[in-house]
Amino acid sequence: MSENKYVFTDTQLNSELERLRLLEKVCDPLSKRLILATGITTGWQCLEVGAGAGSIVRSMSEIVGSSGRVIAVDIDTRFIEDISLPNVEIIRDDIRNPNLSLTKNSFDLIHVRNVLIHLADFRVALSRILNLLKPGGWLVVEEPDFSATRAIYGNKQDCQAVDRVNQAIRQMFSDRDLNYSLGVLLPSMFQQLGLQIHTVENDVPIVNGGSNVATMMNMSATQLREKYLATGKASEEDIKNYCQFAEDSSFWAIYVATVGVVGQH
Ligand SMILES: C[S@@+](CC[C@H](N)C(=O)[O-])C[C@H]1O[C@@H](n2cnc3c(N)ncnc32)[C@H](O)[C@@H]1O
Repeated sequence: MSENKYVFTDTQLNSELERLRLLEKVCDPLSKRLILATGITTGWQCLEVGAGAGSIVRSMSEIVGSSGRVIAVDIDTRFIEDISLPNVEIIRDDIRNPNLSLTKNSFDLIHVRNVLIHLADFRVALSRILNLLKPGGWLVVEEPDFSATRAIYGNKQDCQAVDRVNQAIRQMFSDRDLNYSLGVLLPSMFQQLGLQIHTVENDVPIVNGGSNVATMMNMSATQLREKYLATGKASEEDIKNYCQFAEDSSFWAIYVATVGVVGQH
């Protein structure tokens, strides 16, 4: 198991919760659409891997009802410990742990979002996840693609500064042996694992400053500032400009793309 620390591990509790809630606002519409496309219904056994602030756990819990169950596995359960729903169980563990207390072939649906990109050995994680799916069970994975990021409209110097920070983000992932464009690999990975692919979606929002996506990336830049600087690709001034750009409604950019894949075991 790769020992690389999750990049947001040392972030402040309140600002990390705020960032995760914003992430949910940005990502939940696509996730809910993909999850509903599986035919999820009452009685299903579901697993949420890396639950973050838990919006998808709550949503699946409501759909599967009292005859179903949702298990959330996360290495950091600080933001989901307050969930007290009778059909939800929270497990604080690493999804790659071979001794994870979950039964093989027991889930109808497993959802994973923005987790594998943080794991150098994402293939190990994916094979463990696959072992947990029932034959005929559904896997929904959504991961970012940071190769799509770029400033689109703003003054030339600001756009250049934004793109240097985009380079720093990519370098931060590469320096940790992480694949910053993991999202685009998902369809081929599903195919190689023998999953039947039902849906592939690539969400590439073009947004302006002040939007939820821009604000979320601004928060990430504030939290990960030292890590961006350590790459040598962006300066303090670049990060300051990036954060200002993200607040200005006349500046437009692609900050991140998300690839979502739905497959059946
Ligand atoms: C970027 S957050 C995404 C949260 C949520 N999936 C979402 O998209 O809103 C990544 C989450 O994965 C969890 N995580 C990271 N590595 C993990 C691992 N090896 N096993 C289980 N959870 C992990 C983190 O603690 C965090 O809650």
